[in-house]
Amino acid sequence: MHSLLLVFLSWCCSVVLCQIRYSIPEELKKGSLIGNVAQDLGIELDRLRAGRARIVTEEGIQYTELNLDKGILVVSERIDREQLCGDITPCSFSFEIILENPMELHQVTVEILDINDNSPVFEKNTVSFEISESATLGSSFALESAYDPDVHVNSLQNYILKKNDNFVIKQHSNPNGGKYVEMILQKALDREEHPRLSLMLIAVDGGNPQRSGTVNIDVTVLDVNDNAPVFNQTLYRATVMENAPKGTYVTNINATDADSGSDGHIVYSFSDLKEQVRDIFSVDESTGVVSVTGSIDFEKDKVYEIRLKAKDQGGLTSTSKLIVEVVDVNDNVPTINVMSFSGHLSEDSSSGTTVAILHVKDKDSARNGLVTCSIEKDLPFTIKSSLANYYNLITNTVLDRETASEYNITVTATDSGLPPLSSSKILHLRVTDVNDNSPVFDQGTYSAYISENNSPGMSIFTVKARDSDWNQNAQISYFLEDTEIGGSPVSSFISINSDTGVLHAVRSFDYEQMKQLSFVIKAQDGGSPPLSSNVSVNIMIQDQNDNAPQVLYPVQTGGSLVAEMVPRSADVGYLVTKVVAVDVDSGQNAWLSYKLLKTTERALFEVGLQNGEIRTIRQVTDKDAVKQRLTVVVEDNGQPSRSATVSVNVVVAESFPDVLSEFTDFTHDKDYNDNLTFYLVLALAVVSFLFIVSIIAILSVRCHRWRHEHMYHKSNANLPVIPYYPPFYTDIGSAGTLQQVHSYDFCRTTDSRRSDLKYAKPCSQSTISLDASGTQTLLNVQMEKLTNENSDDQVSCSSLL
Ligand SMILES: *[C@@H]1O[C@H](CO)[C@@H](O)[C@H](O)[C@H]1NC(C)=O
Ligand SMILES: *[C@@H]1O[C@H](CO)[C@@H](O)[C@H](O)[C@H]1NC(C)=O
Ligand SMILES: *[C@@H]1O[C@H](CO)[C@@H](O)[C@H](O)[C@H]1NC(C)=O
Ligand SMILES: *[C@@H]1O[C@H](CO)[C@@H](O)[C@H](O)[C@H]1NC(C)=O
Repeated sequence: MHSLLLVFLSWCCSVVLCQIRYSIPEELKKGSLIGNVAQDLGIELDRLRAGRARIVTEEGIQYTELNLDKGILVVSERIDREQLCGDITPCSFSFEIILENPMELHQVTVEILDINDNSPVFEKNTVSFEISESATLGSSFALESAYDPDVHVNSLQNYILKKNDNFVIKQHSNPNGGKYVEMILQKALDREEHPRLSLMLIAVDGGNPQRSGTVNIDVTVLDVNDNAPVFNQTLYRATVMENAPKGTYVTNINATDADSGSDGHIVYSFSDLKEQVRDIFSVDESTGVVSVTGSIDFEKDKVYEIRLKAKDQGGLTSTSKLIVEVVDVNDNVPTINVMSFSGHLSEDSSSGTTVAILHVKDKDSARNGLVTCSIEKDLPFTIKSSLANYYNLITNTVLDRETASEYNITVTATDSGLPPLSSSKILHLRVTDVNDNSPVFDQGTYSAYISENNSPGMSIFTVKARDSDWNQNAQISYFLEDTEIGGSPVSSFISINSDTGVLHAVRSFDYEQMKQLSFVIKAQDGGSPPLSSNVSVNIMIQDQNDNAPQVLYPVQTGGSLVAEMVPRSADVGYLVTKVVAVDVDSGQNAWLSYKLLKTTERALFEVGLQNGEIRTIRQVTDKDAVKQRLTVVVEDNGQPSRSATVSVNVVVAESFPDVLSEFTDFTHDKDYNDNLTFYLVLALAVVSFLFIVSIIAILSVRCHRWRHEHMYHKSNANLPVIPYYPPFYTDIGSAGTLQQVHSYDFCRTTDSRRSDLKYAKPCSQSTISLDASGTQTLLNVQMEKLTNENSDDQVSCSSLL
């Protein structure tokens, strides 16, 4: 510092003024010597002290101090050139030193020399720039200048930019001598590479030692949309269940954009989508989440191919592809289509006949679409798969309409999904009838009773047959089987209503002619061919008391030709004769009883109630008349009963001549013996006559019947039926149960005639006992005639004879 000290002494000749000049560097310590004033002014130290030398200054601050002891001037205050003068050079300050006794005034000027005590200084520590990455090369950016208050060489000399790739600086001098600096872009910025740059600008001065100041330059690179979004996959794959509900997450697509801000803001969308796909999926435009918005049907689309687009705000786009595979869900019920089904099947169809052909379908795929068909177990049908998805419903037995006339076959189609779905269809099959059942009569045989003398056309009873077939095949008609009864066709006795099965009597029946009708009725159905069955019918004719007893003996010949003889000596109970009567009815109706109606004498005779035997009941006395006439009533047991009367002549005599004499009385013919031969001849003639009459009667009746039958056939039975009675009593068959009982009880009277003939034995005894050739012959003739009339009763008759 001392070396820099410069002393300028300027002497003033006048007392008043003398000027000295010093040069000192700035920033000297306090007390640092500025100059020896006493010496430089040439004033004695004593004088200084005596003259009370002092510094007078106009300025407020006194930088210097006068040391009177040494006569030197020292620094009394820190002197900062930059503060004192700023940019002004040279820099100095002046003051006066005043002395008294005598007054002396000396001017001192102190020049302050600059030292490099200040560094260049930037106003801020940091400056920021925002530069678009698209800034063109050569673009310049003005930088703030630094300031260095030092002057000359100590002032700011140079700027230096710390090394970097992108920028260089260029310095310019101001016309006023200052310097300013610009930053020039020499390499393009890339925000994506270096979004921020940190630079440092250094300002240096020329002092020694050199001082510098720095400023940080923060460059923020502004983005430009120079990057397109990039999908992280070129192809996205996803699966989604069909019928997934709306909002189901499908996948997340992701694209990135290297740009920042809005240029990096990606919007996702589907590009060139079919309309329907747009309804099914949507992508969240900001997150890229693809989700379901519509209904997904596997059966419509199994896979969706969606083009994806990512777009940033700057309009750059990129695309990718999303393949969504739909997973099948068992959501379709199998359907059954009836391809062929007539609805009916004949019951004679053989086992294995195809009833229906079905086609099953399931829109699902794989297992979900695998359908099996089944029917109920207990039906006589099976279902068989023929072609793929075709099923045949076939019978596995022969059907029987009479057992089951219709079937409701439920066909169930089930798929193999989890859980399985199924549907069913009911086939209504009607089994059509075939005439495979014969009519069946309610009873195995029919029996009925009808009283004789019925009115023709009367309904007897009804036969009923059933046929389990249907409709026409069950329509039953009844017919009489064409048989003969006693030589006449059955139709002449019985007719049947072919629709109702009601049996009618065609004619009036006569029990005495026939006791029973047996025939066969056929029931025939309306099928084609018709089926029929037979039933035998027995109609029992029941007896009515329609025949009065007939007296066979004694024969009534108008005159009293025949008389029974009773010897006067006859004992009590003497059998006089026997009234023989028959009743063609049977049973009770033929049970005859005999009563004496009137007697001439007080009771001499009685008649056996049952057997018709006339016996004496007391000794004959002389008082008794020789000629007695008895009237015997023969009555049957029918309701009402019928009867016949017969007169019996009895002669009470001692001997046969008596009788003859009496007989003449009887016959009013005195010459009995003479006339006896005549009577015998007459009797023979009568017998012959009766025989001839009988023959004629038989022939005429036969002829009549033949004609009647012919008429009946022609007139279709509408003519009134003439009851006919055959000349002989023919026993057509055994009587019914009731009659059989009766016939057992009253075996003797079942057939009165027969019983009477059996009773003829006592009668013949009577005639034998008579022992008179004439009457005996007569009686025998009468018996013979009787025998002729009863030709069937050979046994009885022969025994009688
Ligand atoms: C996309 O991928 C990037 C990198 O893998 C990840 O950081 C980002 O979170 C993803 N975006 C979405 C929406 O998942
Ligand atoms: C793409 O992004 C999606 C969504 O973030 C992610 O799930 C997937 O794993 C990414 N793919 C790759 C190959 O990184
Ligand atoms: C079949 O179904 C019909 C109508 O549903 C019904 O009237 C008929 O009785 C059924 N038949 C059988 C045999 O179940
Ligand atoms: C019914 O009887 C008739 C004659 O008696 C016979 O020809 C026919 O074969 C019988 N029918 C049946 C089904 O027995």
